[in-house]
Amino acid sequence: MTATTDVLIIGGGVIGLAIAVELKLRSLSVTVLVRDFPAAASHAAAGMLAPQAEQIPPSAMLDLCLLSRSLYPQWISKIEQISGLDTGYWRCGILAPRYTQENRDNWLNQAQIRQYQPGLSTEVVGGWWYPEDAQVDNRALTLALRATAQALGVNIRDGVAVKAIECEQNRVTGVRTNEGMLSSDRYILATGAWSGQLLSIPVYPRKGQMLSVRAPDDIPLQQVLFGSDIYIVPRQDGRIVIGATSEDVGFTPHNTPAGMQALLQRAIRLYPQLQHYPIIEFWWGFRPATPDELPILGASPYYNLTLATGHYRNGILLAPVTANLIADAIANQDRPLLKHFHYSRFLT
Ligand code: FAD
Ligand code: GLY
Repeated sequence: MTATTDVLIIGGGVIGLAIAVELKLRSLSVTVLVRDFPAAASHAAAGMLAPQAEQIPPSAMLDLCLLSRSLYPQWISKIEQISGLDTGYWRCGILAPRYTQENRDNWLNQAQIRQYQPGLSTEVVGGWWYPEDAQVDNRALTLALRATAQALGVNIRDGVAVKAIECEQNRVTGVRTNEGMLSSDRYILATGAWSGQLLSIPVYPRKGQMLSVRAPDDIPLQQVLFGSDIYIVPRQDGRIVIGATSEDVGFTPHNTPAGMQALLQRAIRLYPQLQHYPIIEFWWGFRPATPDELPILGASPYYNLTLATGHYRNGILLAPVTANLIADAIANQDRPLLKHFHYSRFLT
């Protein structure tokens, strides 16, 4: 059995890579095992940093999300500086148009919302403006994180699939992979929607289908539009990402005509001129969902295995705070926020 690293991270999506970078910056040796880099939800996402548009109610989860959003500017500068790559981070704000009147403070009426965004459907009666919500190009971010990790000396092993986590009493002794047994002092599980395949924790896939179109040269959208069942995310390079379905169909792959029809209908209803834009791409991905829609972070039943999974709809947003909290947990530093996301909440 090979034991060559302080920390072995299983999973190389945005969560595993963000943790790897943070641990390496704290002078630990780190190996990341990645079964399939492009299959990660991190490539499929829309990249919205949207605790407010996602309407997360006041809770420890909202605190976690707001903290992560506030960490983003500095975190991104670090990654872009080390990797030399652009991540498309854009503090564009998110506009949330609605077809029915809602009675809360700070509501934009029909005339006001049209000033924020010309070209909205005539059915829109008003909406919300969240100036602090933002976006990042999640594909560019994942590549930049990977390049950062490699520049720092993280050992990234592509094509290595963990088949089982081997344990003795309350300790992980190694992981069985397609390349043999591997061992380490500490282990981190960051396998997204596939986490339930390796450990008895309730994480399961929630499929999301997406598509993108190309905007005309004079990009008409300067902020994300977050409708009640659709979002439209303009990138700075002229792509417009449209999402997403939310389907309980296990790991069933592919885009479906029904999924694409639903997205296109809703997007065109919200922002009619989209119907003329050329389609670039369709894709899908699997959100790592949990029964209470909160992530599972920190301790596990095994003292040398740490959990960083179940980020569901907000894993891109939560990457910087997760990296920070998990690196502190590995260093045995107390972070009270972690107790809200402990796996034991699912034990009966
Ligand atoms: P993943 O990115 O899925 O990575 C898991 C990795 O583990 C993969 O590389 C996989 O190959 C590897 N792996 C799995 N099993 C094994 C194994 N046995 N051995 C070795 N490696 C293994 N979040 C936001 O914040 N904002 C958004 O706008 C947003 N939009 C989304 C839209 C869609 C359609 C989807 C699907 C998700 C969206 N999300 C969004 C959620 C976000 O994408 C996820 O929460 C996040 O990417 C999870 O990251 P992860 O690293 O935990 O998992
Ligand atoms: N956060 C957007 C999505 O999961 O579709």
